[in-house]
Amino acid sequence: MPWQPSELPDPDLLALALAAWLDAVAAAERGGGTLDPLKVSANVRRQRPEASPAALAAALTQARLRVRARDRLGSQADQFLFTATGLEQATRPQVAHRRARRLQAAGIEHIVDAGAGLGFDAIEFARAGMRVDAVEIDPATADLLAANVRACGVDHLVRVVVADVRDLKLGPADACFADPARRSGDRRLKDPESWSPPWSWLCALGQLTPRLVAKVAPGIDHDLAPAGCETVWTSVNGQLVEAAVWWPGLARANRRAAVVIRSDSAVEVLSRTDSVAPAAGPAGQWLLEPDDAILRAGLVDEVVNRVSGRLLDHRTAYVTTDADPGPALDIARAWPILTSLPFSIASLRRELAARDIGRVVVKKRAFAADPDDVLRQLKLPGDGGSGVVFLTRVGSAPIALVCGNEVRPTSE
Ligand SMILES: C[S@@+](CC[C@H](N)C(=O)[O-])C[C@H]1O[C@@H](n2cnc3c(N)ncnc32)[C@H](O)[C@@H]1O
Repeated sequence: MPWQPSELPDPDLLALALAAWLDAVAAAERGGGTLDPLKVSANVRRQRPEASPAALAAALTQARLRVRARDRLGSQADQFLFTATGLEQATRPQVAHRRARRLQAAGIEHIVDAGAGLGFDAIEFARAGMRVDAVEIDPATADLLAANVRACGVDHLVRVVVADVRDLKLGPADACFADPARRSGDRRLKDPESWSPPWSWLCALGQLTPRLVAKVAPGIDHDLAPAGCETVWTSVNGQLVEAAVWWPGLARANRRAAVVIRSDSAVEVLSRTDSVAPAAGPAGQWLLEPDDAILRAGLVDEVVNRVSGRLLDHRTAYVTTDADPGPALDIARAWPILTSLPFSIASLRRELAARDIGRVVVKKRAFAADPDDVLRQLKLPGDGGSGVVFLTRVGSAPIALVCGNEVRPTSE
């Protein structure tokens, strides 16, 4: 029998449950207390006494997940239906949007989404005008996927297929996107062979259909991608969220790229064959911390070049310069360096007192001590000015950099 969608939560009951959850969240925030799910449930039951316990439970689960999804999706979360695992694995809309536009620009008109989950990639492919076969092995997830596709008004472009994608006959003419499941319950699966579908199956598919893109964990080894592929690391608002491997039918010659997305900007940096390893040198007037996507893609030289800077040390990827850090602020964070000194608690405390800095954030890289321990030992008064202390190493010497507060791009 062909797959038929099962019953979905009653929209009116769901709207009621969502309003009750949001009220409870707001009340908990106002009172500084925790939210009581039983009270939320009793509140909805009072207003809809005729609803069956199963319908009520389904609506409350969806309402709770929508509230959770707002962190990732903003208020558009209210359009979608979720499972807890599907939400954890959902591609962020800005990232899915960029990928879909790149595929569209490459001339892709039809794409197979091999493991479509709740549909966050499939929907963006359709919004970019592609026809999509959204293949999902789990029928319950497929129900929600189909509902999400309908809610976004792209169901005329998306065909939901409930199947194990490995059973489909995919050929050289197909363009394919895969976002393999990389979790088992709450556990992240590190071994690419334990992903579903497994990495070796995707590599075999890439031989057959080289117009393949696979979303993977951002911590992957650089050598996971087969020869000729391009890997793109993406961060959203400072958080490294994913890497994507583009097979040779879609890859650019650069082979490595970083996309840094912030609320108001998106910047792409491509690796260059003529790049020269940056030199290291003493601390200047500014300290820059490249975005994690830049770091993972091995593109720190871009930050160094933009500010005519140098590395503080080859192992830490902190960049320092005497020039204006402005040109790199879309791909790095920057702090003014007030002074740098060999690390000891006593000398750091003296230095902060002399500058009337009574509150600091302590950050570290390649440094053994725990920032919270250092902060406790500093016993700062908590008043006066604020600053940031970086603990790191230059060669084998532990140093502390006392910095002012972060500078922001002028657009913020
Ligand atoms: C990481 S999720 C996809 C998330 C999706 N890209 C999104 O943003 O909503 C992976 C999905 O692939 C499905 N899946 C895993 N193995 C599969 C297979 N062999 N065939 C089809 N679907 C599969 C899982 O059930 C899961 O829903």
